[in-house]
Amino acid sequence: MLGSGVAGLTAALRARELGLRVLVVTKAAVADGNTRWAQGGVAVVLDGDRDAGDTVAAHAADTLTAGAGLCDPDAVARIVGAGPAAVGWLRASGARFDAGATGLARTREGGHSAFRVIHAGGDATGAEVERALVAAAGAQSVPVLERHVAIDALRTPLGEVAGVTVLDPHGVPGLLRAPAVLVATGGFGQLYQATSNPEVATGDGLALALRAGATVADIEFVQFHPTVLYTPGARGRCPLVTEAVRGEGAVLVDALGVPIMRGVHPLADLAPRDVVSAAITRHLAHAPGGVDDHVFLDATGISGFAARFPTVSAACREAGVDPAREPIPVTPAAHFACGGVVTGTDGRTGVTGLYAVGEVARTGLHGANRLASNSLLEGLVVGQRAARAVAEDLAAGVLADPRNGREPAAAVAAVAERDSLQRVMSRYAGIGRDAEGLAVAGSVLDLSTEDSLLWTQEAVEDAALTLIAQALVATAARREESRGCHVRSDFPERDDVTWQRSQAIRLSPSGQ
Ligand code: SIN
Repeated sequence: MLGSGVAGLTAALRARELGLRVLVVTKAAVADGNTRWAQGGVAVVLDGDRDAGDTVAAHAADTLTAGAGLCDPDAVARIVGAGPAAVGWLRASGARFDAGATGLARTREGGHSAFRVIHAGGDATGAEVERALVAAAGAQSVPVLERHVAIDALRTPLGEVAGVTVLDPHGVPGLLRAPAVLVATGGFGQLYQATSNPEVATGDGLALALRAGATVADIEFVQFHPTVLYTPGARGRCPLVTEAVRGEGAVLVDALGVPIMRGVHPLADLAPRDVVSAAITRHLAHAPGGVDDHVFLDATGISGFAARFPTVSAACREAGVDPAREPIPVTPAAHFACGGVVTGTDGRTGVTGLYAVGEVARTGLHGANRLASNSLLEGLVVGQRAARAVAEDLAAGVLADPRNGREPAAAVAAVAERDSLQRVMSRYAGIGRDAEGLAVAGSVLDLSTEDSLLWTQEAVEDAALTLIAQALVATAARREESRGCHVRSDFPERDDVTWQRSQAIRLSPSGQ
């Protein structure tokens, strides 16, 4: 397993339960991934919700609406339908969710037609999920190899995946042979200057899968979360202000106090997040009150804010903001990759021996815009199913003999410098895109890349970000419409005739 967030640890634990030998490989410490930063919760319709009139079908319908015509309805039905059992397994594995008056407490987030998002520690759901899974992995003695970054897949002459090359913390390369490699390395928020993702979110697993021959799709759909805490000149991970704050009644306003979402969408502040992020960006383009890089989230009407949202409160406190008395300065930031390695809902890719789960994968659940709090759900459901798929493939004898895996000739790839990559992507391939800007981005990327040996973690990460940036810019330029998270100022309308389809990318065997 590459990656130790919700998807990787779930798959590892289930694989262990199924009697498989597993090794979790992670490039930082085991709990350092993106999962622990998730705030809002897990979207799931439990028995109590059904009594309250919510249904799995309504959850699926909201997912399809948010996905703007590009979800795979079968994948949506399967993953959303499997949610209650997956959450049951997580709770049995030790995760504790907040209790409500009857059963679990539930909140609401953008695009949801009901209160169905369960949460933990108020707004620290990811931290609790990660804590529980790390503890369960420890209790079951799941081996974890920390501070090792995977570079490339070992492949047999038939193209099957049979292990990976890795770098240890001192930059010493090594081989890990295995009949199955499951990639659960998360997204690539670090492609942008402002992101809710931690430093580790550099898309390494996605690049590894692409170089191993896997197909990637929907890469142009990068979801920008409407509200991270704004601090002037912030770089790196920006603290999230969970959508649940709006779920509990907070309102987005501009510098003059004018509500931003009024009249924009029937769900107003709880519209799907692509709609909210785009509305904020449009609003800022006209700089009301002279403020052109952030808006405000007025949560002063929420009583007991600090108790309900301890994580957001702590971040605000650090920034000198008191949400009980003043609006929180917020701005959109890169948050989630809706596309990724094309898989079934069992994590299988088109490459024998290679599986992908979680944000790195594209199951068809998210389409052009992920519904809030569907990602922890997907990691849980597909993580469990992928473990079973590996067990079945092993039992069926369809996986390669790891001894036949060969090292790639030389781990060399085009690498662009991180700062300029982030600057170019933020300026030309963020929320507002057009042909001219995307062409500039494409040529700057081509000019600023040079071939480098992947002998440091930073080089591995920069190579991954560069490959993803090139694929993203190319697919965004081709998609001449606006849909979900892909907003083109030169093609503002959605074009269902030409573009109600995904764009698939696959590198040629030479890696070009
Ligand atoms: C949030 O709490 O607003 C983020 C949840 C998510 O991205 O699903």
